[in-house]
Amino acid sequence: MEIRPQITLAGVHQQAEEAADMLASIRSAMLAPMVRKLAPSFSADQVATLCEASSRGSFAHRIASRKDMPSGTLVSNGRKRVFDLAETRQWVRDYRKDILRPEGAEAITISIANFKGGTTKTTTAMTLAQGLSLMGHKVLVIDTDPQASLTTLFGILPDVEIKQSDTLMALADGSLTSVRSLIRNTYWDGLDLVPSASSLFDAEFMLPNRQSREGTKGFEFYRVLDLGIDDVRADYDVIIIDSPPALSYLTLNALMAANGIIMPLPPETLDFASSTQFWSLFSDVTESMLEARGRTKSYDFINILLSRVPPKAGRGASTTADAVREWITATYKEKVLPLEIPRTSVASQKSSGFGTVYDSEPGDAKDKTYKRARDAYDLFVQHIEVSIRNAWSRQLQTSGEGGLYGTTPAPQEI
Ligand SMILES: Nc1ncnc2c1ncn2[C@@H]1O[C@H](COP(=O)(O)OP(=O)(O)OP(=O)(O)O)[C@@H](O)[C@H]1O
Ligand SMILES: [Mg+2]
Repeated sequence: MEIRPQITLAGVHQQAEEAADMLASIRSAMLAPMVRKLAPSFSADQVATLCEASSRGSFAHRIASRKDMPSGTLVSNGRKRVFDLAETRQWVRDYRKDILRPEGAEAITISIANFKGGTTKTTTAMTLAQGLSLMGHKVLVIDTDPQASLTTLFGILPDVEIKQSDTLMALADGSLTSVRSLIRNTYWDGLDLVPSASSLFDAEFMLPNRQSREGTKGFEFYRVLDLGIDDVRADYDVIIIDSPPALSYLTLNALMAANGIIMPLPPETLDFASSTQFWSLFSDVTESMLEARGRTKSYDFINILLSRVPPKAGRGASTTADAVREWITATYKEKVLPLEIPRTSVASQKSSGFGTVYDSEPGDAKDKTYKRARDAYDLFVQHIEVSIRNAWSRQLQTSGEGGLYGTTPAPQEI
């Protein structure tokens, strides 16, 4: 038998380069002839729906009477009116002004976390960010995952376009103390991004290294991101953080910077089993980390999102997903959001095109599968908006009573 040659490290290196080249050419093919992704535009009916206007007629009337607001562009020989995303959001913010972030409140930070890979964290982060921006909110998304999938969803090629100093690494190595200069505008109006790239992985060495060198001077590796966003909390309504599938130093930063945590969880046996480890590891680590320093931390909300849920079995039959869904509900009780994101080819097809359901053009709305997925995401976003408004009310009530860490003592030395 002929023995196959071994694969050397040089071979792995060559493979890495070929894979990167392939991704670059796929991206240019997907986005051609535009170099950048484009956000969808909206018909007058769609804008009226997003504004929760009482009727199409009342919205049309308001367009005619409000000279200070955008009137869109007439297309199809003047028979149809189309609004771009920025114009749409301007109208939504106008209609919903009384339920947007109240004066004196600041951004609510939400981390999307699950130590298990492939549980739809990144898709959840992106759809939540887009959905909230379509409800008028100004959103900052922070990619803390060196895989940089979220950055890729913005049509950016991380390892080609993003330098290490453009990522949270600048905070981790101490060259910056605020994320402000890392923030960039994106193709999506109202959505800003702090990007990632694989070089952010160095933070996993840098943070423990600094802890041992600077711990006695008050450095706390798990507060780097929390402190880094302080400077911009007043500029955004919501900050959404995507995290890597591991209990890493970066994940701990994401969890410590959050007011709320959302764990997307597909109803599959292994995903459920690993979700139970998440909570025990999370509580062990934070107890030893925070309580040893005389600190504590509380969250405004922690939710489980049933995601990538396969269709229910027919009458009398039941699937593994049905059983696991019951375990999830029995375990996480009121933390489980009362809705499910269906498993749908729409989400995965859109990912291969570097997008989500919210990137679809209006025509897609006629498609039944698309509508089911879109309705589920809309409901998810609406539920989280309620939690966000609740957290703002709490902020206003407790402002003056101390910051995130309440009245806990000043940092202790290790
Ligand atoms: N509702 C859905 N139905 C079907 N496929 C989905 C759905 N949501 C996401 N996916 C697909 O599942 C895969 C994993 O999703 P995603 O990358 O969001 O997970 P993740 O938890 O961020 O992964 P990682 O742990 O690697 O960061 C992707 O291919 C995505 O397109
Ligand atoms: Mg991800």
